[in-house]
Amino acid sequence: MGSEYLRARFGMEIPGTEVPDAILPLLDRRVVRRYRDEPVPDSLLDGLLAAAQSAPAKSDLQQYSVVVMRDRARIKQIADWIGTMDWIATAPVFLVWCGDMRRGQRLCEHHAMEHANNNLDSFLNTAVDCSLAMGAFMAAAEAVGLGTCPISYVRSHIERVTPLLSLPAGVYPVAGLTVGWPVFRRPVSMRLPPAVVVHRERYDDSAMLDEVAAYDERRRAREPVAASALKNNDVYPPRDGVGWSENVARQLSVPERFGFAAYLKTRGFDLA
Ligand SMILES: Cc1cc2nc3c(=O)[nH]c(=O)nc-3n(C[C@H](O)[C@H](O)[C@H](O)COP(=O)(O)O)c2cc1C
Repeated sequence: MGSEYLRARFGMEIPGTEVPDAILPLLDRRVVRRYRDEPVPDSLLDGLLAAAQSAPAKSDLQQYSVVVMRDRARIKQIADWIGTMDWIATAPVFLVWCGDMRRGQRLCEHHAMEHANNNLDSFLNTAVDCSLAMGAFMAAAEAVGLGTCPISYVRSHIERVTPLLSLPAGVYPVAGLTVGWPVFRRPVSMRLPPAVVVHRERYDDSAMLDEVAAYDERRRAREPVAASALKNNDVYPPRDGVGWSENVARQLSVPERFGFAAYLKTRGFDLA
């Protein structure tokens, strides 16, 4: 049974890989981008948030916060700002996961000490704590049949999302997360072969381009990207048959959210 899950995930056989039943749901996960009009009980949501808080946190500093949104009109406001993801408004719950340096700063002040870690390392630690908690939440939600989808696009409208959520200095959104009961489950999205991502003892990407060319072919055969859905069609002419790697390059060759460091500085992050 594990080999079927591996084939779905990688589009190829991955021999010699043991997949115990307990991890099958993790191999089978996928984002959900449309939700039934059915409530998620507060008590269940609180249980999932408790699972999220059970994630590890750097030095036990727990430098993140999450804002729970249930007000349909406010969730729709965010969907409207984003403009291209109307399905966000179908989610009965929208979580905004935030890196949080402020709590530590306040605790230093409370204990009459100076906070001396307003730096890039703290920024990274807050983002990592936050991401691990969000990942734990997603796994917990999937385990009870809920669907989720992270939304980095809240950062594309950060100047409006920040006041909407009353985020103070020292707190910034890492990602939104839609939560709800799935209308349907999308097919599993194929991943790069483990040989590209997993390095043994030493980093070695000498075979990467060949591996990725084969991955492009496998993905093209299973889930070809429509020319109209390619990244940055306004910069590069749309064409049929573009593979995953070229689409990555189309996205990464155009600056995205280049004002983010400036935003963080206005929110009190030194990033030095
Ligand atoms: C940090 C992060 C931000 C994301 N932002 C968005 C988003 O703004 N909109 C969206 O539709 N999907 C978003 N996604 C979902 C990815 O597109 C999705 O995980 C990827 O296509 C692979 O699909 P899968 O998760 O079903 O395997 C995001 C995922 C992550 C981890």
